Amino acid sequence: MHNLLAGKRGIIFGALDENSIAWKVAQKAHEQGARFTLTNAPVALRMGEIKKLADACGTIVIPADATVVDDLEKLVQQSVEHLGGKLDFVLHSIGMSPNVRKGKTYTDVNYEWMMKTLDISALSFHKLMQTCMKQDALNEWGSVVALTYIAAQRAFPGYGDMADAKATLESMVRSFGYYYGQQKRVRVNSISQSPTATTAGSGIKGFDSFFGFADSMSPLGNAPAEDCANYTITLFSDLTRYVTMQNLYHDGGFSTMGVSELVMARFGEGK
Ligand SMILES: NC(=O)c1ccc[n+]([C@@H]2O[C@H](COP(=O)([O-])OP(=O)(O)OC[C@H]3O[C@@H](n4cnc5c(N)ncnc54)[C@H](O)[C@@H]3O)[C@@H](O)[C@H]2O)c1
Repeated sequence: MHNLLAGKRGIIFGALDENSIAWKVAQKAHEQGARFTLTNAPVALRMGEIKKLADACGTIVIPADATVVDDLEKLVQQSVEHLGGKLDFVLHSIGMSPNVRKGKTYTDVNYEWMMKTLDISALSFHKLMQTCMKQDALNEWGSVVALTYIAAQRAFPGYGDMADAKATLESMVRSFGYYYGQQKRVRVNSISQSPTATTAGSGIKGFDSFFGFADSMSPLGNAPAEDCANYTITLFSDLTRYVTMQNLYHDGGFSTMGVSELVMARFGEGK
């Protein structure tokens, strides 16, 4: 399929390096005819990788710390100016927990860091949506997607306070889905993605076991980042105009499984 996003404008948050889910979304959005700006936290931009992506997509990078409303206001305003009109899509692909990163377990968190986890991984979404709404920056039938993980619904030791952040994020997706849908017919959804080997993913303690377990449980296996990007493109396109306020699992079937034969076999007699 070609030009699913022809004529559409957007902002893509969270491309850090070529493993990032957002990186792949940017590549696919470009292939499908979209124009967009890229953004990331100033500290992430120092790594310089994102410039390569911007060049390949013929666009610019606008630095913004997603926890700082002033940065978001400038980002949204500059994106609308640069792209020459209101936006049709936004990708929120942001997550970080200082507790997880520094090996603090869920029952021994540093609360200042926990506030940071919630601010970066959840509140940033609210700040972004509120900024877009105040600036009336999204076109009717626009589409917003946030990335999330099933630890919002189920217990996954090792995911730490990110689970609380994702639960909050998904709630904000529903709430803004209501207000934005009613006021502007903008749709707002989250995609709950399989474990994926990225900087954020691999930072989780025991990531390889997480990954292997989910892969063995899922009839289709874990969903790769590239397929997550394809799914995201469908949500940005006009083919999904009445999908909103949903948490959409993109996980090879993992979320609906009880147990698989592959996993059972590992607990069989004599094993
Ligand atoms: N990798 C996985 O296993 C997995 C699974 C499900 C969901 N997700 C979610 O997918 C999204 C993207 O993560 P990824 O796996 O591509 O990893 P990634 O590390 O490539 O992306 C995370 C991004 O968040 C950005 N970020 C952190 N703090 C920020 C701030 N203050 N302001 C702006 N940006 C900031 C980082 O710079 C980075 O680009 C995250 O929401 C993550 O939780 C990941």
